[in-house]
This record gives sequence, C-alpha cells and structure tokens, in this order.
Amino acid sequence: MRFAEHGYQIAPDALDLLESYPGPRDDLIRRLLSTLDDSIAVVRAEDVLALDPPAERPRQAPEGRLGPGLASPVRLHDPPPRSAPAADPDISSVEVVCDITGRSTCVGEYEDFIRYFRDRYGKIREMLSRRLNSRPIESLSKSASGREVSLIGMVMEVRTTAKGNRVIELEDPTGMVTAIVQKESPCFDQSQGIVTDEVIGVTGMYDGSGRIFVKSLLWPDLPNQSQPLAGGAGGALLTSDIHVGSKYFMSDAWDRFLSWVNGESEDPSGLASRVKYLVIAGDLVDGIGIYPGQEGDLSIKDIYDQYEEAARCLNGIRPGITVVISPGNHDIVRQAEPQPALPEEIQKMFSGDKVFVGSPAWLSLGGVSLLVYHGRSIDDLVLRVPGLSYGEPEKAMMEMLRRRHLCPIYGNRVSIAPEQEDHYVIQRTPAVLHCGHVHTIGIARYKGVAVVNSGTWQSQTDFQKKMNIQPTPAIVPHIDLATMKIRKLLFA
Ligand SMILES: [Fe+2]
Ligand SMILES: [Fe+2]
Repeated sequence: MRFAEHGYQIAPDALDLLESYPGPRDDLIRRLLSTLDDSIAVVRAEDVLALDPPAERPRQAPEGRLGPGLASPVRLHDPPPRSAPAADPDISSVEVVCDITGRSTCVGEYEDFIRYFRDRYGKIREMLSRRLNSRPIESLSKSASGREVSLIGMVMEVRTTAKGNRVIELEDPTGMVTAIVQKESPCFDQSQGIVTDEVIGVTGMYDGSGRIFVKSLLWPDLPNQSQPLAGGAGGALLTSDIHVGSKYFMSDAWDRFLSWVNGESEDPSGLASRVKYLVIAGDLVDGIGIYPGQEGDLSIKDIYDQYEEAARCLNGIRPGITVVISPGNHDIVRQAEPQPALPEEIQKMFSGDKVFVGSPAWLSLGGVSLLVYHGRSIDDLVLRVPGLSYGEPEKAMMEMLRRRHLCPIYGNRVSIAPEQEDHYVIQRTPAVLHCGHVHTIGIARYKGVAVVNSGTWQSQTDFQKKMNIQPTPAIVPHIDLATMKIRKLLFA
C-alpha cells in the first residue's frame, strides 16, 4: 500500500472514499500524498475530501460557536464547474472550481457575522488540530493551574504592555482567555506578527485564573513540500492592474505585449506560441470615483467607455489563449469582498475565450490549481506585520499562506461581506497563488506554491510619486505549467 510506504496509516472511511473515487485513483493518491506532511500519522476522510470535494455535501454544524445558538447546518456549496468555451478541452480548459458569483447570500445582520467567524474558526481549527492536541477554553479550571495546556483561538486583541510583554486575547466558541508572551520567551519574536482575527494555536502554562503564559505558538501553515506542484501543459501569463482609462495606462507597452503574444514579434524563447492562459487579477480599468480628484488622472471619463477600451485591448489576443478576468477594487462590482464577476452588460463587450470570475476564485488551468485574489488585504498586512512592504508583496502573500487565509485582518481597509462561509480560508494548497493590487512585481516559491504578484500596466501616478511608491509596470510573469518555472517578461 502506497501510504504505508510513505509512513502513513489510513483510516477505514478514507480508504472507502478512495475506493469509491470514480477518476484515476493513482493520480488522486499522488495528489493526496503531496498534501500530507510529517506531522500527520493517519490519513483521514477529510484529507481525501479536501482534495476532491463533491459538488455539494451536507456538513455538520461547526463545533465552534463564536456567538450563541446557530446550529443550523451550513451548506458547503461549490458551484457546478463553469468551463471556458474551448473547442478542444485539452487545448486550454479553464475550470472555475469555486467563486462567489451568483451565490452571495449575506444580508449583513449580526447572525451573519457570527456564522462567518464561526466558519473561519472551524475551518482553521481543523487544520491546527492535526498538529495540536488542544482543549476548549471552557475546560480550563482551577485544577488545571500550573499545568501545560494547548488551545486554538481566534485573536480578539493583541497589545504590548508597558513592561514589553505581548498580551493576546483569545476566543474560542466556549470562552475567552488571556495569553501572555513574555519578552524573554523564545516565541516573542514570532508573536510580533500576530494580527487580530486570525486563528492560532498556543501552548503554555495555565495560571488557574484565566491567563496562559505562552511557550509556543502555532500557525496552520501549508504542509512541508519543497517540490513545485506541477502537472499541466503550456504556459500561463499572469497580469493585473491594467487600469485602462487612466492617463497613466501604458498603451504602447500593452501593444508590444499583444504583438509578442500573437507571434508578431521576435520570440527567441518560443514561449509566446505555447501560452494557453492569461489570468488577470483585477483592476482591469481605472474606474471612476475611486479616490478624490481621480477625474484629473483619467483619459477616459466614462466607465463603460473604459470597459469598451479594455475589451478592445483584450479582444486582440490570438485564439487559443483563454483569458480569465477577475475583478479588483477599481472595477464595476461591489466593493465589499468577496467580489462577484463583472456584470453581464460588461461581459458582452468582450469576444473570444473569456472567462469571468469573482475575487477570490479557485481555478484549474488544465489541472493546475490557481487561486486568484486581487489582494487588497496586502494593504492591511503591510500596515500591521513587521517586515512586510509594498516593495515585496510576495512576502505578504506568503503570510496569507502561512495563516491559511487571504485576508486575516477583518474590517480594516478591506470590507468583507459576512457570507455563510469564509471564502478566504485557504483550504487546499494551490499550485499558484496570484494577486495584484500593489502594482509591484513579486515572485517567490513557498512550500511548493508559486507565489506571484503580477504588477501593473500603469506608470507612476502623481499620487504614487508623492508617496514614494515605485510601481514596476509592463512586466508579465510567465509560468510554464509543466515545470512551474516562472519567468518575467519585460514590455516597458
Ligand atoms: Fe490597481
Ligand atoms: Fe487594486
């Protein structure tokens, strides 16, 4: 049995699931093994389901109750896959595995928020509980005084005391506790990156009266995996923040890009002819009324005219390339996230193989999984987590992966609508995490995941000049989907 060879046992229900799998089982087992790490001894049914979720299955009410009395089951509903209209599915098939488009249910009532946070807590707790034998907060009593305990909690507040210790108020569905990281503690440095609303594990000594002195901290993180997750064919170009309609949009550079991708200019590497996908992570147009005084920065002042021009820019791409368009905060969709796909009236302006998705969205590019998200949460992460900057957005994106959440901090610059489930939890390991928004190229490999921030097509604006922000425009990352090798193509 392949699991035993790799040092794992397999639970009977997981075995049943594997045996009932209709597709190629070898492939499933290979993918499953690639997601497991050394800390897991027994492969459970959840591990199999996480790889290959059925279209819809009833889910038990989360054990978590971050708020009172909401026991109704929550639907875990992936939409039926929407595929690009490709003549030959092997040539460039894009499958939309999951996004919010047409499925927003939130009203924004108190109960929605409770459900949203419970969903976040429950999903991340499940990941952490594989590595941490934790107990509910309510089980801490006087008798546990002086004993070492482990908990999984959502961070309600984090602050530093006058003496320089870090105090973290943690909540789980059963209660609250104060975790104290003393400045002499070996995990004190790690604790500097803790942000509100993320879910972490702590282990420490309980004092018998609501306080834990922390010895170690645990983040959900991705399984250890050094090899890139490969298995596709052809190439994918990743881009974002085109900002058509802005007077800073670099149309000449775009035309050079178009002529390269269409095979009309020199291509010594032969990459252009192998491109199958172009994924756009938001801010297709500059929009209107996004910030005070924007009119002065616009070359096209009507948003529909901006999209007409954007369609002209993208409709010129040769057949054989599927273009996936995900929105950003400058686009004509709701600002509250998750954002749905561009509306029908805009979609109609585009021709050829175009797939419109929300943000965030899970895609499969001929079998290679890609998680695309515009990346507005990078603003909040850069502000709160020491060591992060706009110049290196890939580091903020690695923090998303480590926290298994695209937007760990709730309610700062990003307005998240409290949907029934938290679409920002990174439940599976994507082969590619693709963001934009910050207008700076950033590329890294984190535990096998290709982490790409795809820059912009907008040159430095007056505002950016004043703020000393240096965009890196007209650079397009290219991923070879067979080897997952990433190259930067320059069109400036
Ligand atoms: Fe942008
Ligand atoms: Fe943006």
